[in-house]
Amino acid sequence: MSSGPDSAVSRETETRIEESVPGVDSTSNVQTSNVQTSNAEASNAGTDVERDFDDDFTAPYAELSPDTPIAVAAHRASQIMNPESVTLPRPAHRRVLTIANQKGGVGKTTTAVNLASALAVQGLTVLVVDLDPQGNASTALGVAHNSGTPSSYELLLGEVTAAEAVQKSPHNDRLYCIPATIDLAGAEIELVSMVAREGRLKNALSEEKLADIDADYVLIDCPPSLGLLTVNALVAAKEVVIPIQCEYYALEGVGQLLRNIELVQAHLNPELHVSTVLLTMYDGRTKLADQVAEEVRSHFGNAVLRSVIPRSVKVSEAPGYGMTVLDYDPGSRGAMSYLDAGRELAARAITKQEQER
Ligand SMILES: Nc1ncnc2c1ncn2[C@@H]1O[C@H](COP(=O)(O)OP(=O)(O)OP(=O)(O)O)[C@@H](O)[C@H]1O
Ligand SMILES: [Mg+2]
Repeated sequence: MSSGPDSAVSRETETRIEESVPGVDSTSNVQTSNVQTSNAEASNAGTDVERDFDDDFTAPYAELSPDTPIAVAAHRASQIMNPESVTLPRPAHRRVLTIANQKGGVGKTTTAVNLASALAVQGLTVLVVDLDPQGNASTALGVAHNSGTPSSYELLLGEVTAAEAVQKSPHNDRLYCIPATIDLAGAEIELVSMVAREGRLKNALSEEKLADIDADYVLIDCPPSLGLLTVNALVAAKEVVIPIQCEYYALEGVGQLLRNIELVQAHLNPELHVSTVLLTMYDGRTKLADQVAEEVRSHFGNAVLRSVIPRSVKVSEAPGYGMTVLDYDPGSRGAMSYLDAGRELAARAITKQEQER
């Protein structure tokens, strides 16, 4: 087994994903034995960052539908021309999902805002809670988040209600955001001395407090850490979405995240589980991306969405215009892949409801 710097997926090669984490196919170790990629190869992949891979992206996307490629393309084209024509089924109960991975820059925020937008465009009401002091989700959704704006900080402190802090995204009437301001940077420390410090967000997002917004989905964007903000997000949600970047050291830190999820599950939130893993920044031309995807699928099994998000310049440009990629360039591969991911996420909930009936 290769566990040194040559491992393509993670340095955490000895870490075992805890078998008791529900929702995760945890029958195998987080190991990199079948991934033999040199550092040179990995750094080559890194140099492609500036290029748009949209044109190269086909394989995992095409797998999604049993229809012919032409039928799939026709369906997409009609959806892009009239995105509101597709209406996703509403879940029986509000779904609260926390988007977490303490590794930085893996696509948490991009996933939060674009999945939210994909669900909203397809007829569902979605609330994004920005729980990262960087406020990137608030920027991408085009909502005000200068210091002093009622935000997730005041929400955690109990100074405002969700209804007072929420803003409507200017691009979609069904997309809402509770923004994060820089004030949230001090919250980790301020929360330490507070009563019920881990459950403050859950309390602020209770059924009654969200009654006015009536969201079908609540997506919580976490900062790249496992501190009290992320713990609050894990206590407030039933489901965890883990975005994993198809790059070198993809699984680095995931073992630690899963251990934290398990701790929260054991002590604070028994219903918490990893429902969804999403592969992001996939570059179909590199062997590395396929190896990472294969590795992640072998560890997380059915939790991994079949939709994969390609690396796309459009996706990275959109937040600069205060937009999600669905508003910025609805016809781009990035937009379509998030539409697919949203559909898949929504369909899974319905399938589960049907199974439970
Ligand atoms: N599919 C994609 N194609 C191209 N660029 C992307 C894609 N997804 C994300 N990015 C870019 O990668 C960078 C990191 O993404 P993002 O901010 O979503 O990660 P994050 O996990 O939220 O980061 P942080 O840990 O700092 O909160 C951003 O510049 C974003 O625009
Ligand atoms: Mg982020």
